[in-house]
Amino acid sequence: MAPLASVQGQVTALFTKALKDAFPSIQQDALVTKGNPKYGDYQCNNAMMIFKEHGAGLGFDSPLKVAEAIRDSLPPSKLLGDISVAPQGFVTVRVSPEWLSSKVGECLLKGDISYLDLPRKRVVVDYSSPNIAKEMHVGHLRSTIIGESVRRVLEFCGHEVHGLNHVGDWGTQFGMLIEYMKEAYPNFQDQLPEVHDLQEFYKASKKRFDEDADFKTRAQLAVVDLQAGGEFARSAWQKICEVSRLSFNRIYQRLNISIEERGESFYNSMIPPLVEELKAMCIFTPNISTIPLMAVKSDGGFGYDSTDLAAIYRRLFVMRADWVIYVTDLGQEQHFHMIFDAAKQAGWHRPPLTRCDHMGFGVVQGEDKKKFKTRSGETVKLGDLLDEAVQRAALEISKRVEEQSKDGGEAFLSNPEEQMDAAQKIGIAAVRYFDMKQNRTSNYVFNWDRMLDAKGNSAVFLFYAYARIRSIQRKAGIDVHSIPSNCLQVKHPAERDLALKLLQFPDVIEAILGDLHLHHLTDYLWELCNTLTGFYMKCKVLGEEAQSCRLLLCEATRKVLLKSFQLLGFTPLDKI
Ligand code: ARG
Repeated sequence: MAPLASVQGQVTALFTKALKDAFPSIQQDALVTKGNPKYGDYQCNNAMMIFKEHGAGLGFDSPLKVAEAIRDSLPPSKLLGDISVAPQGFVTVRVSPEWLSSKVGECLLKGDISYLDLPRKRVVVDYSSPNIAKEMHVGHLRSTIIGESVRRVLEFCGHEVHGLNHVGDWGTQFGMLIEYMKEAYPNFQDQLPEVHDLQEFYKASKKRFDEDADFKTRAQLAVVDLQAGGEFARSAWQKICEVSRLSFNRIYQRLNISIEERGESFYNSMIPPLVEELKAMCIFTPNISTIPLMAVKSDGGFGYDSTDLAAIYRRLFVMRADWVIYVTDLGQEQHFHMIFDAAKQAGWHRPPLTRCDHMGFGVVQGEDKKKFKTRSGETVKLGDLLDEAVQRAALEISKRVEEQSKDGGEAFLSNPEEQMDAAQKIGIAAVRYFDMKQNRTSNYVFNWDRMLDAKGNSAVFLFYAYARIRSIQRKAGIDVHSIPSNCLQVKHPAERDLALKLLQFPDVIEAILGDLHLHHLTDYLWELCNTLTGFYMKCKVLGEEAQSCRLLLCEATRKVLLKSFQLLGFTPLDKI
């Protein structure tokens, strides 16, 4: 099966060739953008510039003449349909319906969708990364959702991806915690506490540490003991990690996250020789010189900076990753840029051979535009948040079922188990989609109603679109795979619009690879489903002469939706 390739990229290549042939003396790549739908699908914007810079020399008296020369040099291609030229110099092309028909058949209907062949890269995505003995907060939820999807997109592109969970499982706080638990909860190794108890212990131990000099000394000794591998300290630390891990895993399971834990403790032994090698007690990086990167803290210990230096060394130099991506809140942007600069100075990061990105994100806010909290002002527990999403989705579903049975129609989700399963899938997808559709770097206001709005840009809307295709397929009563793909001959403008939208899927993936903004995909899905609605309005599917062609278009749409759902981490429903 032919892999999908960017339509815009192919149009650009045709125009670049035309420019070379029309103006051999000018070295210029074509600048192609989406066109005004009134005139065409894509437009080439070079004529105006060429006229301004070289018009007189080349003997052209208007941008229109330059544009005509570009048009006349376009190599013949099955892709090109109508071509028009505007007086301002835009050359606008429509993609030919025949080409669209054959490409949708060739790339989308046969087998699984595959993406264009890119050179395979080794990529590390550092995401989720909560801290032991503390509960995960909404920021970690964002990192988990975004990180998992970007990792799936990269895997879809054929890269070797390592999703690493840089769990905060090491540091002086463990000395305090171990010492405190020895006093306050002596049997904790046999009877594991709950993670929220741990959080309380953590707070209390910090208070003791600040107020009681004797406790402080004991806590410091406990750290030394832990570092040295002392039996008691080690096993206490392991138990504490275990409790937290269980609570993290509950969230990961619900979100279907597959990430490998490689916490801060993993790098501990690498730090001293590395510091030795760096021959610097602290590294000043060239761009941000006011705050030093602390390879070694003032008390001689190693901290967050030292660990991240060791981690980036390990990823770029030992694992030989070509690309490292860190998904955290924007508050840590400067930290990571210093790490990248240090890695560059050390020679591990050699752009453009290697690429390092901080994929920063904004804060989740409540309606009051302050940090998202519960009504009583506490931090939101992620498990509770997901539960509420499911409950709210269940309510919507039961309303729908009621309406369906009132209308005397088919009640799609007839039994309570099916309804509950649907609520789980929709509720959690709604939270994820609402997060990923935001501009990643902005703060956003958490809003249940918009998240679950069946008519707006939400996961619910997409689930309905998917289920509607399934319903049409069931009503057709034939196996779409038995329809030969050459029945797909787009004729109606609404069919053409849908086919073109489908083939623009790789453009979206390419955009994500460029700037790591996942909203390209959510925006695309919203547009795709609206194009689909437009198609249904203008083109009846069942019982028409064009039934076979339209059923195939629906199936191709289903495949693009399904692939996109997988990338976003959703499991679709055949019936709602
Ligand atoms: N544990 C950190 C936090 O909760 C995030 C770690 C991100 N990854 C890293 N390599 N520093 O803020």
